[in-house]
Amino acid sequence: MPKVTIDGIEIEVPKGTTILQAARMIGKHVAPPAMCYYSKLKVSGGYCRTCIVRVTKGSAANPTPMPKPVASCRTEVMDGMEVANYTSEQNLIDRKGVVEFLLLNHPLDCPVCDQAGECHLQDLSYENGSANTRYDFDRRSFEKIDIGPYVQLHMTRCILCFRCVNTANQLTEKRVHGVMNRGDVSEISTYITKSIDNEFSGNIIDVCPVGALTDKTFRFKSRVWFTKPVDANRECKKCAGKVRLWFKGEDVLRVTGRKDQWGEVTDWICNDCRFEHKRYSDWNIEGPSHIDHHSVISQNHYELAKLKLDTGKQLKELKSKKQVDKK
Ligand code: SF4
Ligand code: FES
Repeated sequence: MPKVTIDGIEIEVPKGTTILQAARMIGKHVAPPAMCYYSKLKVSGGYCRTCIVRVTKGSAANPTPMPKPVASCRTEVMDGMEVANYTSEQNLIDRKGVVEFLLLNHPLDCPVCDQAGECHLQDLSYENGSANTRYDFDRRSFEKIDIGPYVQLHMTRCILCFRCVNTANQLTEKRVHGVMNRGDVSEISTYITKSIDNEFSGNIIDVCPVGALTDKTFRFKSRVWFTKPVDANRECKKCAGKVRLWFKGEDVLRVTGRKDQWGEVTDWICNDCRFEHKRYSDWNIEGPSHIDHHSVISQNHYELAKLKLDTGKQLKELKSKKQVDKK
């Protein structure tokens, strides 16, 4: 099995592993950000370039460094390869340039965007972006379009990561949307019918890293950080029925797939679970969801509050048990 060193940490990985996957195996502190790669999809990556790294040693057999930054999600590990991600200052400067490009046409409408608080581009630009833009030209702008009964497309925010297209390709037999045109006039669009209408269409909302595809049943209901995510399940014939409910008070404002530490859904869920079961009583509640640490939603710390509550309860029970024992 090939060995690769990333930011000074060596790891042995199966043949065919990409640099990005190897970095994720080591941990978050070395893993590059990824806006288009999605491990749950059979085809993804290679579009956004946020995952670039510097290969400072090609392999044990050929130690020549690679002359340019490489997309880590598309570059396989070679035995003896050495890679610099956060340890290369030049790489961080290059990534800053990539973020600047991604933001060229992106509106700064986070205050009114439903994705704010869980937007990967927001996190990326906070961590790797500049405070100002050097772009003087008009930004592209589009009207919002309803693409099907549940999903609204706001193309102005799209970064053309292709995730939604690849998700539809993988989950449905008849994909009806894709990227139209080329170059700076490329856009996500539906073909002829202008409607994405299949039982798993809601998943394209979950994979969209920005606020370009939004849930029409949740739009403008609440900022995500005012809602409380809870893991829940139900028996469903179409999907695994394992979801995340987003509560405000006792109301379920939206249902989404559960996401892992990389912000990727763990199970695809059907539209029935997502849009048609929004009553508390429809679900078996498992408990508060663990939200990735860099998200603003995790600032509510109620997972910790529950832990304190449980520990407090246990301590109380222990104390009263001791008193009974003394008697
Ligand atoms: S709509 Fe979202 S998921 Fe689809 S290409 Fe644009 S940014 Fe990516
Ligand atoms: S995540 Fe690698 S190119 Fe987009």
